[in-house]
Amino acid sequence: MSDQEIHEGLEGITVAETRLSFIDGEAGELVIGGYPLSELGGNATFEETLYLLYNDRLPTQSELEEFSDELAQYRSLPEGCLEVVRSAGEAGVVPMDALRMGAAAASLDQDGEDPERDKLVIVARLPTIVAAYWRARNGEEPLEPREDLSHAGNYLYMLTGEEPSDAQVGGLEAYLNTVVDHGLNASTFTGRVIVSTESDLYSAITGAIGALKGPLHGGAPGPVLRMLLDMYESGDVEGMLREKLEAGERLMGFGHRVYKVRDPRAEVLSSAAESFYQEDGDSDFFELAKEVETEAVDLLEEYKPGRRLDTNVEFYTAVLLHGIGIPDELFTTTFGIARAGGWTAHCLEQLENNRLVRPRGKYVGEKDRTWTPVDER
Ligand code: ACO
Repeated sequence: MSDQEIHEGLEGITVAETRLSFIDGEAGELVIGGYPLSELGGNATFEETLYLLYNDRLPTQSELEEFSDELAQYRSLPEGCLEVVRSAGEAGVVPMDALRMGAAAASLDQDGEDPERDKLVIVARLPTIVAAYWRARNGEEPLEPREDLSHAGNYLYMLTGEEPSDAQVGGLEAYLNTVVDHGLNASTFTGRVIVSTESDLYSAITGAIGALKGPLHGGAPGPVLRMLLDMYESGDVEGMLREKLEAGERLMGFGHRVYKVRDPRAEVLSSAAESFYQEDGDSDFFELAKEVETEAVDLLEEYKPGRRLDTNVEFYTAVLLHGIGIPDELFTTTFGIARAGGWTAHCLEQLENNRLVRPRGKYVGEKDRTWTPVDER
């Protein structure tokens, strides 16, 4: 590699070893902590997945109970953090901004820095931040977290004030597990860059949330849902899809930079959505989503032959989260709640064997300008 060779977007550059997740885009394979996603996604609780990422093995029953209790005890927000989040809700800022503000203030009651503790504080508090913001934004009083509910169950409870059904909790756990980690994506890399300076975990996760906010990363589940609801109303799936493709529009929920086959996360999320809708939802809506998927993949082959466009993670994210009752405006913050597991695990991994991340830029400016006083310019 010549010194001045440029790798825009760091594409194709390997910068760290990681044991957290493995992606094969050609084969459509995703492994998390050594388990193919198909093994983990629908079986683990989110607490088990977190333990796996942090310890490289699944917990025993007693380890799981101890870990879950420790995580749950950090859920309540310090008063100043709650005030920030409440103000964000009352001001009506967008959800990802509220999450960023809340994450930055989540350290208010913590003494000094302790990455092992801070990773749990952050993961435990992000759902409380999102729920408190959402309630304040809707003119409701934020709810105190309940330690007797699971991480996923408590998040749903804090959003609605109602204890969620087993089907809702199971569906959300499958979602959180599925998107918890995905290699050195932009937000994860951001977190690793920040801790590589020996900065703290709250700064790293606040930065990661900033990276996730961008539409090129935080994704398109909101637009997928709107497309599906329009099709549900009109019933004309093929006609509406053709209309979009004829107009040169992209079909939301299809295509991926890395996966050239069906995204393995789509498989796990569609099974989770199917189980959820059978038990607790509007199965007509799920059937429509399946019809849209089949039709869209066929039409993409017709309109974009050879491009290998298939279903991505966003498609069934929208179907599943909508069914569970998460408002579409909170899809990306819910993604952040899940990904915080991967972010914090990556930060700790970076610190195990740290080297300051410091790439170079190729200078293309002038080099020999002479100074002109301001009144002569
Ligand atoms: N619908 C229609 N055509 C598409 C789609 C789509 N969803 N995705 C790609 N294409 C077409 C492009 O128009 C292009 O066609 P052309 O060669 O005739 O110009 C060709 O496929 C290749 O497109 P690129 O933009 O080079 O592919 P890239 O790998 O950069 O795109 C991306 C990946 C951004 C996800 C794209 O597929 C897309 O915009 N999809 C729709 C939005 C979406 O679902 N986003 C969430 C992605 S999941 C995630 O990243 C978290």
